[in-house]
Amino acid sequence: MITIRNITANETYPVRHSVLRKGQPFTSCCFEGDELNTTKHYGLFENDALQGIISLYENANRQFEATNQIQIRGMAVLEHNQGKGFGKELVQYCENLLTESDCQLIWFNARENAIGFYQKLGYNIHGDAFDIEGIGKHYVMLKKLRI
Ligand SMILES: CC(C)(COP(=O)(O)OP(=O)(O)OC[C@H]1O[C@@H](n2cnc3c(N)ncnc32)[C@H](O)[C@@H]1OP(=O)(O)O)[C@@H](O)C(=O)NCCC(=O)NCCS
Repeated sequence: MITIRNITANETYPVRHSVLRKGQPFTSCCFEGDELNTTKHYGLFENDALQGIISLYENANRQFEATNQIQIRGMAVLEHNQGKGFGKELVQYCENLLTESDCQLIWFNARENAIGFYQKLGYNIHGDAFDIEGIGKHYVMLKKLRI
């Protein structure tokens, strides 16, 4: 059975480490703002085992005019369960929640290899590629929830 629910920042760290920060210090899995009340972490569970994660931060990107912006970070599905629709479930779960809030725009820094995943979910690239040290090429991507 697949379920998605709120999790703590601490619960995200093992998944972040194995998928997003492999070979790097465990402390590299702690992101600024993880413990803020406004930050939300969600986990996708298969039979009570955490398989995928996503985190939402109230963080405005100054390139965009929208006043209520949410940044996605820490999007990851455990390797052996990638390609089964879990990532899509997590993003759509969050979009449904945010559609009912005053969020106007969702944005994030997308790894180059994940661009196609986000494009399928209706996200667009904004601007040129940039490098995040130690991780690689990224693009800002966004979706407007309200005009
Ligand atoms: C990127 C990631 C989150 C996607 O999650 P997932 O569960 O593997 O993806 P899904 O199975 O939900 O895929 C949904 C759709 O996107 C497609 N897709 C998935 N990953 C893709 C990729 N890297 N490039 C292009 N398309 C992709 C799937 O084929 C599927 O298409 P369909 O709806 O036509 O069948 C996951 O593969 C992952 O954790 N990757 C490593 C970490 C990473 O890159 N995270 C993103 C950081 S910005």
